[in-house]
Amino acid sequence: MFNSLFLLILVLCLFVNPCLSDPRATEAALICTNKTSPMPQRQTYISNFLAAMNTVTPLIATQRYAAVVNGTGNTTVYAFGECMKDLTKNDCDLCFARCKTQILRCLPFQRAIRGGRLFYDGCYLRYDDYYFFNEALSVQDKTVCGAQEFVGNGSVLSANVNQLVMNLSAEAPKFDGFSVGFVTNENVTVYGLAQCWEFVNGSACEYCLAKAVSNISSCTPKEEGRVLNTGCYLRYSTEKFYYNSTQPVRNSNQGTKLAITLAATSSALALLLVIATVVFIVRKNVLKRRGEREQLGAMLATVNKSKLNYSYEVLEKATNYFHNSNKLGQGGSGSVYKGVLPDGKVVAVKRLFFNTRQWVDHFFNEVNLISDIHHKNLVKLLGCSIAGPESLLVYEYVPNRSLHDYFSAKRMFQLLRWEVRYKIILGTAEGLAYLHEESETRIIHRDIKLSNILLEEDFTAKIADFGLARLFPENKTHISTGIAGTLLTFHPYSFAVCNVISLLTNTSLL
Ligand SMILES: *[C@@H]1O[C@H](CO)[C@@H](O)[C@H](O)[C@H]1NC(C)=O
Ligand SMILES: *[C@@H]1O[C@H](CO)[C@@H](O)[C@H](O)[C@H]1NC(C)=O
Ligand SMILES: *[C@@H]1O[C@H](CO)[C@@H](O)[C@H](O)[C@H]1NC(C)=O
Ligand SMILES: *[C@@H]1O[C@H](CO)[C@@H](O)[C@H](O)[C@H]1NC(C)=O
Ligand SMILES: *[C@@H]1O[C@H](CO)[C@@H](O)[C@H](O)[C@H]1NC(C)=O
Ligand SMILES: *[C@@H]1O[C@H](CO)[C@@H](O)[C@H](O)[C@H]1NC(C)=O
Ligand SMILES: *[C@@H]1O[C@H](CO)[C@@H](O)[C@H](O)[C@H]1NC(C)=O
Ligand SMILES: *[C@@H]1O[C@H](CO)[C@@H](O)[C@H](O)[C@H]1NC(C)=O
Ligand SMILES: *[C@@H]1O[C@H](CO)[C@@H](O)[C@H](O)[C@H]1NC(C)=O
Repeated sequence: MFNSLFLLILVLCLFVNPCLSDPRATEAALICTNKTSPMPQRQTYISNFLAAMNTVTPLIATQRYAAVVNGTGNTTVYAFGECMKDLTKNDCDLCFARCKTQILRCLPFQRAIRGGRLFYDGCYLRYDDYYFFNEALSVQDKTVCGAQEFVGNGSVLSANVNQLVMNLSAEAPKFDGFSVGFVTNENVTVYGLAQCWEFVNGSACEYCLAKAVSNISSCTPKEEGRVLNTGCYLRYSTEKFYYNSTQPVRNSNQGTKLAITLAATSSALALLLVIATVVFIVRKNVLKRRGEREQLGAMLATVNKSKLNYSYEVLEKATNYFHNSNKLGQGGSGSVYKGVLPDGKVVAVKRLFFNTRQWVDHFFNEVNLISDIHHKNLVKLLGCSIAGPESLLVYEYVPNRSLHDYFSAKRMFQLLRWEVRYKIILGTAEGLAYLHEESETRIIHRDIKLSNILLEEDFTAKIADFGLARLFPENKTHISTGIAGTLLTFHPYSFAVCNVISLLTNTSLL
């Protein structure tokens, strides 16, 4: 009983992780210029561009914005990036990592485009061939309205939006170029955020936001609107999307403040105690971080040497810079894209969105457990890339989509004749039984669902995503699983068969 309770709590902790917040890495607009480099300058411009991009990332990580200039004369590249000021450091890094890969859709390599800007709701990145850091407006500024019409009193919404954006645009220049807030009148609430970029001075910020205010009113009565100007960003929405800025962004500042207050008000003993505590915490953090770095370093070395290693650039190109049209699906741990490698081989590339610590565990699981496992009913892991801005896993490509796709479309569901279903049931069960009984490292999948059962052209079932796999204790031949609150014991094979049969014979979908 206690065991199952413990297990439940453990599982809840694993899945409902309160630390996972939203980096708002959703694209608001990608704007590329139409200037290109003349042929003799291309090579230099591109290498300056790459050098600038490499310099931007560490700066973002330390100060949340970055302005970089690289190169000389006609091949100088200017780059600027910044996160929205309400994001945590971790979300800022995540948002920026995505932003950096997506700006390549302006095709700086293929067509030598000399400028581009990418607005995400959590961060911003721009590169160009002239000094633009203090600019407020330009002809490429854009207003992007949401698709959904507001259900409710539109004139109340418009009035609230106007009041809100007037207030935000007045407040932001006074408060370090950033302001969030909301307005509620007559049961309608709108939320908003205004931010000017770091090098846009006070008067330019005011000017930029004033223009943004006049443009954003064209979006009402849509539920959402954004103005994406050269020097500022303004957004309203009927959903709360920002983090409340009254929450502390950095714990370390608070720690010192606390230490100072305590020291001033209490005895030398208290001071000593505080110093000891601070030293202890700092030391612990440093050791922890060093440990994580060493773990990461060791893994990087191992992966680099192995044949499992793929280069980030190759995978990026293979998936057309993770273009939406290549997207195969979205899972809990990341999204999956179809890619074609330079040798013509078709693969599925999974992008993992995890912060470093969680990611190391996840990665370790997936790569180490699965790369040795070969079975006709299991999706094969071909390799990975962890040296780039985000980590990628490369799987064999299974052409006929997942069972989930068949269940979500009635027409496709009818394709699954009983012989086919029998084949799928048997194949899935064989795959699971292999994981449970025959493979060297015994694995419990723990996330069997329709979208994790892929189908080959001949309807051979293939089980995907071993992300939640855990090692199977050597001396145990039976597993326990909590179903609907009751602890039941099954032989793994019968469990597997039951599970799949119940999925496939679900007649409520017919
Ligand atoms: C580039 O775009 C600008 C406006 O954005 C336009 O005026 C200009 O004609 C374009 N130039 C070319 C070569 O397409
Ligand atoms: C441009 O980047 C390269 C490579 O990082 C560096 O060696 C060089 O000093 C940079 N140039 C300028 C002008 O910052
Ligand atoms: C830079 O480009 C301009 C026009 O494209 C040209 O007139 C000038 O000579 C170039 N300067 C250098 C140093 O290449
Ligand atoms: C602010 O920046 C603009 C250019 O964006 C410049 O024209 C103006 O003189 C600057 N104002 C101050 C007070 O520095
Ligand atoms: C923004 O508003 C100005 C007038 O205030 C207008 O000229 C411009 O076209 C608008 N821009 C967009 C992107 O709607
Ligand atoms: C919207 O609200 C205003 C002010 O409360 C009211 O005068 C108007 O009749 C309402 N419109 C609708 C369609 O309910
Ligand atoms: C903006 O709203 C806040 C809170 O409602 C208020 O305290 C502040 O005075 C307003 N600022 C302006 C310029 O209207
Ligand atoms: C921030 O949160 C507090 C309480 O959670 C709330 O009173 C306050 O209005 C919020 N501020 C903004 C700008 O949303
Ligand atoms: C606001 O909503 C509540 C419940 O949703 C309703 O009882 C009330 O009449 C509404 N007030 C106005 C002014 O629409």
